[in-house]
Amino acid sequence: MVSEDNFKFKEIEIPSPGEGEFLVKNLYLSFDPAQRGWMDDKKSYVPPVQIGEVMRAGSVAQVVDSNHSDFKAGDIVQGTFGWQDYAVTNGEGILTASLVSSKFPITAPLSIFGITGLTAYFGLLDIGKPKEGDVVLVSGAAGATGSVVGQIAKLKGCKVIGVAGGARKCKWLTEEANFDAAIDYQTANLNEVLEELCPEGVDIVFDNVGGEFLNTALLRIAQNARLVICGAIAGYNEENPLPGPSNYRTLITLRAKMEGFIVLDYKEQFPKAIKELAKWVSEGKIIYQEDIQQGLENAPKTLTRLYSGKNFGKQILQIAEPE
Ligand SMILES: NC(=O)c1ccc[n+]([C@@H]2O[C@H](COP(=O)([O-])OP(=O)(O)OC[C@H]3O[C@@H](n4cnc5c(N)ncnc54)[C@H](OP(=O)(O)O)[C@@H]3O)[C@@H](O)[C@H]2O)c1
Repeated sequence: MVSEDNFKFKEIEIPSPGEGEFLVKNLYLSFDPAQRGWMDDKKSYVPPVQIGEVMRAGSVAQVVDSNHSDFKAGDIVQGTFGWQDYAVTNGEGILTASLVSSKFPITAPLSIFGITGLTAYFGLLDIGKPKEGDVVLVSGAAGATGSVVGQIAKLKGCKVIGVAGGARKCKWLTEEANFDAAIDYQTANLNEVLEELCPEGVDIVFDNVGGEFLNTALLRIAQNARLVICGAIAGYNEENPLPGPSNYRTLITLRAKMEGFIVLDYKEQFPKAIKELAKWVSEGKIIYQEDIQQGLENAPKTLTRLYSGKNFGKQILQIAEPE
């Protein structure tokens, strides 16, 4: 389990931007379960963070000093600036947060219009391919990704069942986020409740958790089901991989498909997706929650909230106010 002992604070001079560079002050940091994977010295879709390096993280920041023609002091930008107060960049891969619209909160590019909102959008629509009347089962349902998956599925005419930890999260899913049903995996027998709620089976499983959830979901799939493998947080802090799902033979008998994806592969289509998500949010068809903690000194503790289910909505840390 990742802990505060894995990190060290260091004070250094604020760097100065060179020719074609600019200096940003970090305002809000994004916390993502994948950060635990980036700390493993293993080959993955991004290189591991090395010991002694600044912990990688997405953030919203403000330009404070610029020698770059496209960015000026005061601009709000979005990039991967890490767990630090200031960063220098040459602007590569940096977006201006005004891409969406100033009518949304400054943190929206980290939540609903950020990686988690986009993961929900592409994972469900492109891999899950929902059809009207489909039954959709979502794990990690009250989280940043899961809650958006369920609401998009409802917009597509599906019946949506969410699985989350605790009564408070489950109540929010059915009373606020428009889910048809919510199951508290900490107290319920998932297999039995699913049999009752959808005896014909589940057409789409959107899995953020893996482990036991996935194994049980495999027992309850319908003919031609699609299992969208988005995340496997139940195993991210395990020393050894969790056992594979022993119930996988239903994939054969029910001609089902299980497929993983990485949202970054959809980069070219992000602007189109953000536009559609913004429309849904403006029309009140999608709601989203942000869980905003305070202070850079709390970065390690904030990361651990994701793996204990303490976060309720997109986990963010505010480390400064915009000027
Ligand atoms: N494929 C991609 O490109 C991509 C991109 C972004 C995110 N993801 C994945 O999407 C998933 C959700 O990420 P997020 O940023 O939206 O986080 P999140 O759902 O807002 O927060 C994580 C949640 O996971 C649940 N959880 C933690 N440990 C668990 C465990 N041992 N067993 C079951 N549930 C556990 C907790 O909810 P409860 O309180 O309900 O247990 C916690 O609140 C993660 O697996 C992440 O890696 C994938």
